[in-house]
Amino acid sequence: MSVSNFCSADAQNTAAVRAKVTFQTLQEKKQQGKPITALTAYDYATARLVDEAGVDLLLVGDSLAQVVLGYDTTLPVTMDEMLHHTRAVRRAVKHAIVAADMPYGSYHVGVQEGVRNAARFLKEAGAEAVKIEGGASRAELVERLTDAEVPVIGHLGLTPQSVHRMGGYKVQGKSVAAADTLLRDALALEAAGAVLMVLEGMPREVAQHITQRLNIPTIGIGAGPDCDGQILVFHDLVNLSFAKPAKFVRQYGDAAALFRSAIDGYVRDVERRNFPTEEESYHLPKEVRGAFETAPLRRKA
Ligand code: KIV
Repeated sequence: MSVSNFCSADAQNTAAVRAKVTFQTLQEKKQQGKPITALTAYDYATARLVDEAGVDLLLVGDSLAQVVLGYDTTLPVTMDEMLHHTRAVRRAVKHAIVAADMPYGSYHVGVQEGVRNAARFLKEAGAEAVKIEGGASRAELVERLTDAEVPVIGHLGLTPQSVHRMGGYKVQGKSVAAADTLLRDALALEAAGAVLMVLEGMPREVAQHITQRLNIPTIGIGAGPDCDGQILVFHDLVNLSFAKPAKFVRQYGDAAALFRSAIDGYVRDVERRNFPTEEESYHLPKEVRGAFETAPLRRKA
């Protein structure tokens, strides 16, 4: 087995001193003006790295429909797929908050079905919160989820599940009326019990105003630097999205180049019989080797 079962001394030390992050921690960060860090994660390996790096919140985003499953939009991803990935992330994370996206269709038919589906994320996958897209029309659902002990993260602005209604992935809240609607939506979700608000794809000025007006923290993505925290899609951060990055994305690494060079090296070595070497092979014990070579089954006829 090639999987290493021990962490580095650094990772162990960090694990020893870090406290579990809760929504109270995020609230305190807002009050103290300390930026909140969040990233998406969809699998054990990357979730483990993100958690060990000290990120506050990991979101199992429905963006996994695109960056992991190869769909064009987030719409096709199912409850079962979201639960499957949330479980993998849960197994990796010790400190950060693990939140899961409610997929399209899982909370749109009725409040009762929304509550039932949200509870599955906590009960069957170990999530600590769910995220839902949409404004004041979701307030009743947020209230019912809060009553059912499910912490809710709101998501306003460019909400990818509304791609067809928006006519594409377009920055929202660009007129005074549209910005006012976003503010009213944010206040309605907060009053209904939301614990955190993702603000996506909106002018910096609008996100800044909403952030000042809300008591709960805001997490921005394409919403400028004045939010209480920032989130990015993990695959965008490391150049694994196979798409032209949006204006707000900053790539901090090139995993595509790293993976390509590793795969090319492997293919080259196998084709030239440079892999595996003698040192990378297992051998029969010396005392067995002689008997093995002379055993009747291996004698040429
Ligand atoms: O699905 C997702 O990854 C998201 C984040 C970008 C906020 O909703």
